[in-house]
Amino acid sequence: MEYADLLIETYGRVAVIRLNRPKALNALNDNMMNELGDALYKFDADKNIGCIVLTGSEKAFAAGADIAAMAEYTYADTYPDNYIGRNWEHILNVRKPVIGAVAGFCLGGGCELAMMCDFLIAADSARFGQPEIKVGVTPGAGGTQRLPRTIGKAKAMDLLLTARMIDAAEAERTGLVSRVVPADKLMEEALAAATVVASMSVTVAMAIKDSVNRAFETTLTEGVRYERRYFHAAFGTPAQKEGMSAFLAKRAAKFDGL
Ligand code: CAA
Repeated sequence: MEYADLLIETYGRVAVIRLNRPKALNALNDNMMNELGDALYKFDADKNIGCIVLTGSEKAFAAGADIAAMAEYTYADTYPDNYIGRNWEHILNVRKPVIGAVAGFCLGGGCELAMMCDFLIAADSARFGQPEIKVGVTPGAGGTQRLPRTIGKAKAMDLLLTARMIDAAEAERTGLVSRVVPADKLMEEALAAATVVASMSVTVAMAIKDSVNRAFETTLTEGVRYERRYFHAAFGTPAQKEGMSAFLAKRAAKFDGL
């Protein structure tokens, strides 16, 4: 796959999508978001891929939506064309696990895109924030919704209203990221985690992802009922037969492609 604003690599069953507009700290523009949707859908459909890593550069995962591109927009340019909504949320349709590997600036739309990943591994160089208020807009890709659900109202209001950045340690304390690793080990650690995920049954991984995401959309009782359906359905999959028979035979399970 060849893209103008992305770099693509694969490592076994892991696909790596790298945001690549280094001169603009990976500011997210229309072309990059269209390309990202295209790459994500291709890997989601590829039977040889079990997990996707989304990353940026050492300096920036992404410093937000492209301010130069949108500075002159009017309401008539944004509302009728559904700016942001039209092409930023493809990642939410991806059914395979997506791990975000974040180094450097992860701001505004960059932080919002990161929060659409399933979990985040951060370099100790990572800086997170929602500084949209400083450029006179609200967040537009879920910052006011996903951030409080992730780190709680007080911290979210603090970041959204003061525009301050938090470092990787604070991001880990607040639950925004699952792990912090030395910057020079970020891709090694992200690939190791993705390789573990990709070695599991893709069917079961998709079901877990869907079930966890359901938790944010429904009640506890309904969510547990939803999970139970997947649990029961798992007994109809080759993955359950392989996983449990491997355990009883004291051998490693081989889920590749199941
Ligand atoms: N859009 C466009 N260009 C950007 C950008 C952005 N969001 N962020 C950085 N850049 C560009 C800069 O204009 C600069 O380009 P030039 O070299 O051509 O001048 C280049 O990237 C390097 O940036 P700086 O010189 O500013 O680097 P720095 O190290 O001094 O500062 C920074 C880094 C703190 C991230 C600073 O660039 C910054 O504050 N960026 C904007 C962050 C921001 O406000 N993000 C929110 C955008 S709005 C949004 O995202 C809406 C939404 O919710 C969807």
